[in-house]
Amino acid sequence: MGTVTNEYRHTPVLLAECLEQLQLESKHTFVDATLGGAGHSFEAAKQLGRQGVLIGIDQDEAALEAAQTRLLGIPEEMRPDLHLLHGNFGQLDELLLALDIPGVDAFLFDLGVSSHQIDSPTRGFSFKEVAPLDMRMDPGKQTLTAAEILNSYNAADLTRIIRNNSDEKWASRIADFIVEARKTRPFETSDQLVDCIKAAIPASARREGGHPAKRTFQALRIEVNAELDVLHSGLEAAIRWLNPGGRIAVISYHSLEDRIVKNCFAQHAQGCTCPPDMPVCVCGNVPILDSITRKPIVPTEEEVERNARARSAKLRVAEKRAEAQNL
Ligand SMILES: C[S@@+](CC[C@H](N)C(=O)[O-])C[C@H]1O[C@@H](n2cnc3c(N)ncnc32)[C@H](O)[C@@H]1O
Ligand SMILES: [Zn+2]
Repeated sequence: MGTVTNEYRHTPVLLAECLEQLQLESKHTFVDATLGGAGHSFEAAKQLGRQGVLIGIDQDEAALEAAQTRLLGIPEEMRPDLHLLHGNFGQLDELLLALDIPGVDAFLFDLGVSSHQIDSPTRGFSFKEVAPLDMRMDPGKQTLTAAEILNSYNAADLTRIIRNNSDEKWASRIADFIVEARKTRPFETSDQLVDCIKAAIPASARREGGHPAKRTFQALRIEVNAELDVLHSGLEAAIRWLNPGGRIAVISYHSLEDRIVKNCFAQHAQGCTCPPDMPVCVCGNVPILDSITRKPIVPTEEEVERNARARSAKLRVAEKRAEAQNL
């Protein structure tokens, strides 16, 4: 069992690479849409300095508290104007409109869960801990838990979410086993689900692809928090708020997230979306972004050795074109 401590443990991923790409300067307004323990923002804050503005968003109150303590440790004369907001980056417009700022010079999205969340046994994110099957990132605002999904979705819906959110080959067998298992005992804790998944995946297939429960746990977490929908709307809003010349950097941890980021940047870099056989453009869309990373930036071997969580990280960066108007 992991121990519960008040300490916020999370090592920032691709820290130097992010800072280099964000090109922060004093007087800049920077939005960290996934503040966490301020691992990235602590360094960003020092670059922004007294004349800058740092807006940090997280839907997890424990993260915000830890980040606030950390950022307030920067001496006042070197600290940017801080706005730490509790909320979901899927509602970026609302959050930023309330602040009355004209635009944003740089955005960072460091997606997913923090090590702190995974290591907190009560949150139910980890298949390695016996914990209630919760997985809500914002328990105060969300009502749907992983247990409720497991106990109420039909086999077809369970198959769909497990397959779509994790590329699990055994999705439909796992779904059938879940429906069968809950007849005798409703799902409450993570060990029940781990046992059920192990029973569903044939032993020969269990030897490859990491822990057999990893993909199903990821799929449930994505469903509970509507992570892919929220990512799409968050990125669209961020691109609108970005000032010309401003940069957006996104670190993703699995292929579904990375695909959304890649497609979103590509679409705004392309502009016109008319069918190729259209003689003239009727959509009127113009390119507003330049993709800075043709291929995503990935961690060095040294970083992966130091921090296993960095292994799957991919950083993509885009820049708003100078001629593009914000908002
Ligand atoms: C990988 S951690 C960020 C860690 C941070 N960059 C650091 O180095 O300390 C992701 C954080 O984003 C938050 N988060 C995930 N999805 C979110 C969303 N849709 N809206 C707001 N916060 C979100 C999580 O609660 C978590 O604290
Ligand atoms: Zn067009």
